[in-house]
Amino acid sequence: MNDKKFYITTPIYYPSAEFHIGHCYTTIIADAIARYKRLDGYDVFFQTGTDEHGLKIETKAKEKGVTPKEYVDVIIENAKDLWKSLGISYDFFIRTTDDFHVEKVQQIFKKLYDQGDIYKSEYQGLYCVPCESFWTETQLVDGKCPDCGRDVHEVTEEAYFFKLSKYQQKLEEYYETHPEFIQPVSRKNEMLNNFIRPGLEDLCVSRTSFKWGIPVSFDDKHVIYVWIDALTNYITSLGYPELTPEFKKYWPADLHLVGKEIVRFHTIIWPAILMALDLPLPHQVFGHGWLIIDGGKISKSKGNYKDPREYINTYGVDAVRYFALREVPFGSDGNFSEESLITRTNADLCNVLGNLVSRTIQMGIKYFDGFISNKNVSQDIDNELIDATNNLKSLVDDKMSELKINEALESIFEVLRKCNKYIDDTTPWILAKDETQKDRLETVIYNLLDSIRVCAILLQAFIPTTSEKIFSGLKISNTSFEDLYVKNDTYELGLEKPANLFERIKED
Ligand code: MSP
Repeated sequence: MNDKKFYITTPIYYPSAEFHIGHCYTTIIADAIARYKRLDGYDVFFQTGTDEHGLKIETKAKEKGVTPKEYVDVIIENAKDLWKSLGISYDFFIRTTDDFHVEKVQQIFKKLYDQGDIYKSEYQGLYCVPCESFWTETQLVDGKCPDCGRDVHEVTEEAYFFKLSKYQQKLEEYYETHPEFIQPVSRKNEMLNNFIRPGLEDLCVSRTSFKWGIPVSFDDKHVIYVWIDALTNYITSLGYPELTPEFKKYWPADLHLVGKEIVRFHTIIWPAILMALDLPLPHQVFGHGWLIIDGGKISKSKGNYKDPREYINTYGVDAVRYFALREVPFGSDGNFSEESLITRTNADLCNVLGNLVSRTIQMGIKYFDGFISNKNVSQDIDNELIDATNNLKSLVDDKMSELKINEALESIFEVLRKCNKYIDDTTPWILAKDETQKDRLETVIYNLLDSIRVCAILLQAFIPTTSEKIFSGLKISNTSFEDLYVKNDTYELGLEKPANLFERIKED
């Protein structure tokens, strides 16, 4: 049995509108981490999915004249197609409308009610009758409903509450004793100073003002409101409340990746629910930044939305994946534009990686008919490249363990750049003119092929399609991390000229 397990999740996305590049961002990063762990011998469970209930979806469906389920089904089919185009290797896609989830959420809600962590009381809020929506004071625009601009009224509604306040002290203690729980650290300080220390209020967890939600099993006038439905997706998929083998194996999660605006729910409400259920807490919640366009959020109404499949079709899947993983330090906000996608693709994928692979294979074919083995005619100049290649895995491991994904990629590209420099320094085309230098030339090409092989094996986690092309160019099939430092005695490259991995994109 493999006792190295890794459970990683993305947030479950609202299918209220088609997914955009911001949704792809988290999912690509989760996918790269999941792939990296799998290659490293972990038994990985990678989960994503959709958060389908709530007033917003109910309203949108009504506007379209369809049921909420019909409305979300179309968006989810497109989302799954998008994940397929991006090569997202999820193990499970959960929908909060899945029957098993609905049933388990009801059981969890009842358990919390029976043990006194959920109680019935009254919710007071500002209500807009035509929109059937509750608003907080701060959400109002000039004192009116932010959606329709009409008056709102103070309304009191019967509701169930979760005793969040009871967990304030325990949460603070948990943060104290588990410094790795919230990352980056700045987000932890924000949670402590802005939310926990000022005092936690109990949380309203049911509504009677709309219907599109999971009914409270013992009081079906109420639907379960948002967080108990959404957050528990991470455990219902494993079978909880039943203590299934999957649950025992994968829970607690190792990593919840979430956007910065939902860190609060994942590091305050979620651990409090788990504490109430007497379950262990996830190892880490990582709050990342947003991809923004022209300084603002991506949205259809702003007109800066494009179906991400258009980028994939134009620039290729790995250009999009590489951009998401490389451009922005994970944790910070970053700008997305087609120009920066093109610049990044040309600079790294085309000029460094593509160019290196095609030059090296072409030389191997031209000078040695594609058969290259290590003739061990070494020179000092080889050491820098060989050492950098040998140290690469542990360097990338270190970066990945801190989720410094852009730096992990940068380390790999550093070696690829060294390869290009090694070609310039060893000048194979000059060696080729001298018959006595034949073995030296073969050693040079061999060293290049070996470094490319190691880089391509590591790059599989990030740009898998490109790695596959390199493997077929190098005709190698031993491509797991265990094979990284098992030397290939001979390369048999085949005689066809390699296709370019990346065409240079015109910048206009
Ligand atoms: N349904 C909730 C999450 C529940 S998890 C138990 C939700 N859904 S969402 O669709 O609004 O957002 C899902 C995730 O997408 C969030 O982590 C959010 O930060 C992320 N992104 C949405 N737009 C984004 C960008 N422009 N850039 C990066 N991530 C962004 O919240």
